[in-house]
Amino acid sequence: MFIATTSAPVNIACIKYWGKRDTKLILPTNSSLSVTLDQDHLRSTTTSRADASFTKDRLWLNGVEEDIKPGGRMATCIAEMKRLRKELVENVDTSAPTLSTLFVHIASYNNFPTAAGLASSASGFAALTASLAALYALPSPPTELSLIARQGSGSACRSLMGGFVAWNAGTLDSGVDSHAVQIAAETHWPDIHALICVVSDTKKGTSSTSGMQRTVETSPLLQHRIKHVVPQRMKTISEAILAKDFDRFAEITMADSNQFHAVCLDTSPPIFYMNDVSRAIIAVIEEYNRVALLPENGGKRKAAYTYDAGPNAVIYAPAAHIKEIISLIAHFFPQQETFKDPFGLFGPNGIGTGSFAAGFNVNVAKTWETGAVKSLIHTKVGDGPRVLGQADSVLGQDGLPK
Ligand code: DP6
Repeated sequence: MFIATTSAPVNIACIKYWGKRDTKLILPTNSSLSVTLDQDHLRSTTTSRADASFTKDRLWLNGVEEDIKPGGRMATCIAEMKRLRKELVENVDTSAPTLSTLFVHIASYNNFPTAAGLASSASGFAALTASLAALYALPSPPTELSLIARQGSGSACRSLMGGFVAWNAGTLDSGVDSHAVQIAAETHWPDIHALICVVSDTKKGTSSTSGMQRTVETSPLLQHRIKHVVPQRMKTISEAILAKDFDRFAEITMADSNQFHAVCLDTSPPIFYMNDVSRAIIAVIEEYNRVALLPENGGKRKAAYTYDAGPNAVIYAPAAHIKEIISLIAHFFPQQETFKDPFGLFGPNGIGTGSFAAGFNVNVAKTWETGAVKSLIHTKVGDGPRVLGQADSVLGQDGLPK
């Protein structure tokens, strides 16, 4: 049986990708950089199988069959992977099974609820690419595979590697230089933890794909960002990562999130992704850093917020401060759900009511009603896609999702 299962991580950008110069190949207007989050907590698991009995390529997401539209993103990724199988394996070793000629069945599950509003396209397309690469026994390194995942969803190219990952925009029309590169492995700076604050959101927002296109067409600020801001930030944040300089890393991450949301506001008609709860979290973290920046407290930032195309906050922080940050957030945003506490930071009494550093101005935010922040997910920087065994397969013997 020709079958392979892999899992792939979520990534959250510090320097945001927002804008395409080629919408078909998914080539960006600027480079971006992200932190890969630990698959122990958040992941997509995908099984791919090739079989002579299959009559067409089929795909299921969380158990529901999706239409593979001809010429669409999914079809492109599958076709590109089959092309690599033929070129890199079958043409080289004529005794290799001609899997590129067989139809595939692909099943994928996310271990996090879609309702949590976390981008699942990045981990999903990365897991799809990685599982087909394993099925086809491709010799391709992650950078080469990132060219294919990119054509599924831009941000997915950064989920093919662990740690701190840049997506170089590239300049060629063919897109062959628009791929991901690892700036540093997760082992270089394992101290980076992340707290995802899942913010309630009932309204259906503008998708990244259509939102960024509207920004490209209408925002003058985006042109300034592309030319004069991102290139310098890519360089500085990469240096900060290599030097494990959290203060600098935090300063750039927050500034870039804010500029991304500023170009959204500069779009016509404007796009609003953050809401009042998102902005209250910013106020709390800014105050927390204001106190940390006082000379008597060490003079360095201790947390960094960032927001994607939705109201959820992701707070990056060194491990030593994360407990304090969780208490702080839970104070202003009382939790209904019991905090999962995967790192065992709190005792049996749970998060508690939180305490404040001397000088912290509690009036920067009100105490919100329970549920304004629905849940808190604590994770950290993690590794790239993992090849799993048959026991983890999400396709059954019958070739249908389990
Ligand atoms: C705000 O990768 O979802 O999360 O390429 O159209 O699929 P498409 O867009 P997508 O956009 C992600 C935008 C972002 C910033 C980022 O992840 O860099």
